[in-house]
Amino acid sequence: MDKISVEGGSRLYGRTVIGGMKNSALPVIYACLLIKDECIIENVPRVSDVENSLQILRGMGAYADFVGEHTVRIDASSVGGEIKDFPLVSKMRASSYLMGVLISRFGEAYLPMPGGCNFGARPIEQHLKGFSCLGATCSEENGLITIKAKEKLKSAKITLDKISVGATINTVLASVLVDGETVIENVAREPHVIDLINFLNACGAKIVHLGSKIAVEGVKKLHGIKYRIYPDMIESLTYMACVGVCGGEAELIGAEFSHISYVCDIFGKMGLEIKSDRERIIVKSRGNINGADVITAPYPLFPTDLHPQFAAMLCFANGGGTVTEEIFPGRFGYVAELQKMGAHIVREKNSVIISKSEMHAAELDATDLRAGAALIVASLGADGRSIVNNVGYIVRGYENIVGKISDLGGKIKFIKEI
Ligand code: UD1
Repeated sequence: MDKISVEGGSRLYGRTVIGGMKNSALPVIYACLLIKDECIIENVPRVSDVENSLQILRGMGAYADFVGEHTVRIDASSVGGEIKDFPLVSKMRASSYLMGVLISRFGEAYLPMPGGCNFGARPIEQHLKGFSCLGATCSEENGLITIKAKEKLKSAKITLDKISVGATINTVLASVLVDGETVIENVAREPHVIDLINFLNACGAKIVHLGSKIAVEGVKKLHGIKYRIYPDMIESLTYMACVGVCGGEAELIGAEFSHISYVCDIFGKMGLEIKSDRERIIVKSRGNINGADVITAPYPLFPTDLHPQFAAMLCFANGGGTVTEEIFPGRFGYVAELQKMGAHIVREKNSVIISKSEMHAAELDATDLRAGAALIVASLGADGRSIVNNVGYIVRGYENIVGKISDLGGKIKFIKEI
């Protein structure tokens, strides 16, 4: 199995380019199944979740491939509604977006339960609630989901019981071509939700996002378009965490400050200096950071996808701190790994309490995507050479993490096992 080796303890100085946001590229790719025309999507990250999603679309009869370094062309004019690759669908959370697009285009969807990162139950009842309110019937048996619309879907007023990125996006995807106005309340407002809506609107949809509510005025059809994906906010924040731990100065070209101002404010209080203009964020640290207490919550508050990396940072922070997880209660796989490095980190219910620790190198196992990133953050700050196993999780969501941290001066290598 491939590994990453990290020689910790040196400061980071350099510049790297932030890629497109995985979590908006994925719904945009699936949304192309609604369009009987060619779409060109730019700034798509080369991560395995994207590659696998393109493969799923190809299996359904679409043209779906990279035609440039980060440009994808999708032509779904002649797809059928049958998914060929069930194992791939069940590997990935984002494949849940197939439900919304297939019910819209074909009036039915039959697929395995979507998978995703390994941090506990990832229910979909809010997605199904959205489809049911539009008039579909949904059932699940032996891990297989069937959604059917006997008649044409009907516009509706839908209130989601929980703020969910996936359920919000899926309900938008299912309703964009439905006659009349659908209003969805209690929606997620992450930048990736906005990116998907901007994409659909550029294709001719009529969707307005008003804070906690989305209004979708159904249109007859969508047309092809060239569209550029937002930069990845979690990738930017992960590299900022690396600088916080190591000290130094990094220029993150293409990073978007407005998407991460809440966390940047916390980083600022911890002692990081952050400057930004339209093209970049520059982050500077003396490597002597202060602690903080954070609670994960839906956007615009603290992102759950930064929880493990932030916990890794707190191991190096004066006064330590706490992270309370309010979104995914199982997201603590990284704790035992940081303990192998000497971290004083204790889990209490859905929180971790962390004290500043003498961190040393160790052999570590990534337990999921962001946990893997956290181990790299910690290894960069710890003395000695650490090995991170299970790199497959990390490449699901970080393009060329080794190259980008090397750009910043980190001593990191990819070890390919034959
Ligand atoms: C997306 C992101 C993931 C991120 C998460 C929260 C993708 C591919 N993944 O995941 O990286 O960590 O948003 O920002 O974009 N829930 C229910 N029932 C449902 C749906 C969700 O109870 O039907 C719960 C979840 O268990 C969780 C919370 O709602 O506790 C938020 O989950 P959600 O926003 O749906 O996450 P995902 O869309 O799966």
